[in-house]
Amino acid sequence: MVNHQKAFDEIHRLIGDRLSQKQSDRDQHAQSETWHRAPPPDAVAWPETTAEVSRILEICNRHRCPVIGWGTGTSLEGHALATQGGLVLDVMRMNRVLELRPEDMLAIVQPGVTREALNTDLRATGLFFPIDPGANASLGGMAATRASGTMAVRYGTMRDAVLALEVVLADGTVIRTGTKAAKSSAGYDLTALMVGSEGTLGIITELTLRLHGQPEDSAAAVCAFGNMRDAVDCVAMTMQSGIPMARIEFMDAVAMRAVNRNSGTDYPEQPHLMVEFNGSPDGVRANAAAFGEIAAECGGQGFQWASSPEDRHRLWEARHAAYWATLKLRPGATGVVTDVCVPMSELPGAVEAAAAAMAEAGLLGNIVGHVGDGNFHTLMLVEPGNQEELSRAKKAADAMARRAIEVGGTVSGEHGIGVGKRGLMQEQHGAAWAVMASIKAALDPHNILNPGKLVPDRDGASDTGLA
Ligand code: LAC
Ligand code: ZN
Repeated sequence: MVNHQKAFDEIHRLIGDRLSQKQSDRDQHAQSETWHRAPPPDAVAWPETTAEVSRILEICNRHRCPVIGWGTGTSLEGHALATQGGLVLDVMRMNRVLELRPEDMLAIVQPGVTREALNTDLRATGLFFPIDPGANASLGGMAATRASGTMAVRYGTMRDAVLALEVVLADGTVIRTGTKAAKSSAGYDLTALMVGSEGTLGIITELTLRLHGQPEDSAAAVCAFGNMRDAVDCVAMTMQSGIPMARIEFMDAVAMRAVNRNSGTDYPEQPHLMVEFNGSPDGVRANAAAFGEIAAECGGQGFQWASSPEDRHRLWEARHAAYWATLKLRPGATGVVTDVCVPMSELPGAVEAAAAAMAEAGLLGNIVGHVGDGNFHTLMLVEPGNQEELSRAKKAADAMARRAIEVGGTVSGEHGIGVGKRGLMQEQHGAAWAVMASIKAALDPHNILNPGKLVPDRDGASDTGLA
């Protein structure tokens, strides 16, 4: 009999054909954006209500069947891979915007609503939801991974965007964390605990999200630099000067080449900053001028402005597609993507060290970053199945991560831990990692929720050893 068949039979009685053990459905829920691979889950379920999620978890908890939450499948570190088998819980049928409360600047949504779908619904309200990872990800997944994007420098990350959650715990208990109030000092911050818990503590079934007013005016620009160091120095000086940036993104020459090919643009193939200013027309002008002076001092070579909404949209679409655009530079390539975040003063050194590590690896790749937060990525292109290239890329990625820890930063600014960064958790957190394990054991004593992720294994091992 298939593993966990008793659990699946019970779930089938509950939701009928929305429980599938078909190979094609299982395979569709075994793919990761990056090089991490795992066997498919044993089954996939598509719940439609919180009550169904609760019943399914109660069943799985009783049968000790792993449950892995699934949204759009776009996470970059293999978070939702069923590394120990079990049931993938795909929440994409829970995709209703439940309530818009413009007067409170809040939206209440189900976890399968995507960030773009929410913004489409918000158009008429004058409000928007600013968290924008490259993919059109589900809001439940974004909360589970504490996602961010190009606007975090101004609006924060999912940590700041989520005010309250409904969460189903491992035994099926439904809890509500947080409130609709702007702040609270009533007890442990369970919302913050759940945001970024990567499906190891509960399944998010409803989110209360903070919205923002559309700025009165906005202007975006790209500015080229003669070398990477000048561009990154410009970022550090800009942030230290306190100019309120809505966005400040770095793209190296390889990323610009990829974007040109993918989006039909013709930017010079050299390092760039992409920036945006929001506010009143006077404020936008003043901030743009102040940034312009710093950029000129750092050797910035003129601006291409994008002031109309359409031009700005095109510019940021091109940026959001940079990951896929770069993958196309080596057709069929596997991408090894890194994601470190460091204190601002350490950013120029960290980016230079990353470039050196990539050069040593001898692989084609890019460097892009949400540099206003001290957050950047490399994407190294590896020939599929070439273990030697893969190990060179992994060595470079590890060197970047270790350096980030050394200078007081983190091994992930936005992509999360998944299976890719778990081996670095002890190094970053020390004894605090064992505290995470205690929390996990308290909330999920049978270890059914995304087992083998985020916290140490109960036998003390820290790495799944998956490739
Ligand atoms: C980006 C993704 C890789 O910043 O996080 O393009
Ligand atoms: Zn990013």
